Amino acid sequence: MENVGKDIDRAAKDLILGNLVVFPTETVYGLGANALNEKAVKSIFKAKNRPKDNPLIVHVSSIEMAEKIVTNISEIERKLMNMFWPGPLSIILTKNDIIPDAVTCGLNTVSVRMPDNKLALELIQKANIPIAAPSANKSGKPSGTNIEDIYDELKEDVAYFLDDGRSKIGIESTVVKVNEDGKIVILRPGKITVEDLEKISKVEVDKNCFREVKKEDIALSPGMKHRHYAPNAKCTLLSANDKKKMIEKINDIIINSSENIAFMVMEDIIDSVNKKENVKVYNLGSTLDEVSKNIFNSLRKIDKDNIDICYIQAVEKKGIGLGIMNRIIRACEYNIVEV
Ligand code: TXA
Ligand code: MG
Repeated sequence: MENVGKDIDRAAKDLILGNLVVFPTETVYGLGANALNEKAVKSIFKAKNRPKDNPLIVHVSSIEMAEKIVTNISEIERKLMNMFWPGPLSIILTKNDIIPDAVTCGLNTVSVRMPDNKLALELIQKANIPIAAPSANKSGKPSGTNIEDIYDELKEDVAYFLDDGRSKIGIESTVVKVNEDGKIVILRPGKITVEDLEKISKVEVDKNCFREVKKEDIALSPGMKHRHYAPNAKCTLLSANDKKKMIEKINDIIINSSENIAFMVMEDIIDSVNKKENVKVYNLGSTLDEVSKNIFNSLRKIDKDNIDICYIQAVEKKGIGLGIMNRIIRACEYNIVEV
């Protein structure tokens, strides 16, 4: 793995040459290309097998760099940048002509963020170009949060992998758009929460974050329409009002199962899950921040462990829990069992 390491100069050179570079951010790894080079941007879609209508986020290292690619930044949008950048917040802004249509899939808006990761910021500064990057994974698979998984999936198309260990936050950035009336609409929930954003203006969570968006529906964010995060195993969300009911349901499923099944649960119920040869248990952690960090790694593990059916414990839809539930519900393809 000669092309994996911490060589920022090499990664910057590759970006300038129009090659693809995997780089770390505080949320998940990105599959980056020079956002101003149409051909390079198109190669991202090819490497990921990404639907042609799903636009990319452009990463910048300063507000000045953002100002070069967008127009008409409103007062609220500026406040968002000042308060949350660098950080896990992508803001949908009106693009200017310097951004090729390949980045935005023909939309007149572009999603922009300044990542809170030292290597990422140094890389963007050194290359001195904005970097277009989706999460580093094949389309539809869980987002890449460690270089080993990403390398296996994307090695054929990537020139260099900039390694910074496991991603800290583990789920992708919060994506927002600000309406004419100043209301902030969340198109994808994440680490920057409703409560955080309410410090700046009124906030609404788009209803499509938690329901299935059909092909013929009009979505504010094209990413809402596509199959996401799903492992090969069939996943089901288990939701219960109290811990006792959750444990009873899990042990009931175990008694009646003969396939390879798995449970992805919070640490405090692990010891109550009955042991059986065909049953695996994954620890999601004991806080919502730990669940966020572990969720994509665990989803990837299901396939490595040849699990047929996986049950995932629901978490509280509060704070970052909203973002976690958005990812889990989609990984479960809207299969939900309420106990
Ligand atoms: O944390 C993150 O956001 C990571 C890291 C690498 O920065 N990136 C990421 O990119 O998650 P991706 O491509 O996996 O998700 C981008 C999301 C998609 O849901 C896409 O539809 C939406 O942002 N998006 C991008 N541009 C948009 C636009 N102009 N209007 C509406 N939605 C947009
Ligand atoms: Mg993605």
